[in-house]
Amino acid sequence: MKSCCEGLEKQFDAKWAARELRRFRRRGPTRSTRLLVEAIAREDPKGATLLDIGGGVGAVQHLLIESGVRHAIDVDISRPYVEAARDEAERRGTIGRMRFLVADFLDVAETLEAADIVTLDRVICCYPEVEPLVRASAAHADRWLGLVYPRSSAPFRAAAAAANLIMFLRRSRFRAHVHDTSSVDSLIRSLGFEVRSVVRTLAWQVFLYEAVDQQV
Ligand SMILES: C[S@@+](CC[C@H](N)C(=O)[O-])C[C@H]1O[C@@H](n2cnc3c(N)ncnc32)[C@H](O)[C@@H]1O
Repeated sequence: MKSCCEGLEKQFDAKWAARELRRFRRRGPTRSTRLLVEAIAREDPKGATLLDIGGGVGAVQHLLIESGVRHAIDVDISRPYVEAARDEAERRGTIGRMRFLVADFLDVAETLEAADIVTLDRVICCYPEVEPLVRASAAHADRWLGLVYPRSSAPFRAAAAAANLIMFLRRSRFRAHVHDTSSVDSLIRSLGFEVRSVVRTLAWQVFLYEAVDQQV
């Protein structure tokens, strides 16, 4: 197993997943996830399909299914997160409209069909190989590509460096990555997408792109 995946599996373990699921059930999605879901819902995704990469407890999937998305696939490296997303789908009675996969998306991308919507909600900041991950995600997005990732200015880089030092001292292999906004944005535009909306919170940026040849 790649060392980054080992780090991710240990970071997002059963305890973490149970806590996140409890939080989601009590308080709903985090602010940045809510902003992503609202941006997609404004595009009227009724009947669309969703591929949620690194879906965690499945907040994006559960909420977009509620908004009329027909089918969702969740691919996540963390088994406890996938189990939590499945539990929540069972509780909501939407399990029949969802499919769950425990895998690194880059390892299974070729076996997965494209979807109308592809989301990476706080995922590229956990993964070192941003370019292949974004390329493969964009290649699977027939219409919309949504991303939430940290702002890349100096304070956020410093915070990530401090968090990574703590991880190193704790012997964790998990690392936070602050990717340069203009590089990520140029890459996605070069793959045939245009920005549909962008919203920023104190720490996060929420981008929704649309494939240029799909715009009406
Ligand atoms: C910080 S969590 C975010 C979870 C959820 N999207 C949210 O915003 O609450 C990052 C998730 O991305 C997953 N992940 C990171 N890189 C991935 C990859 N290449 N393929 C699949 N899952 C990935 C991790 O296992 C983890 O569950």
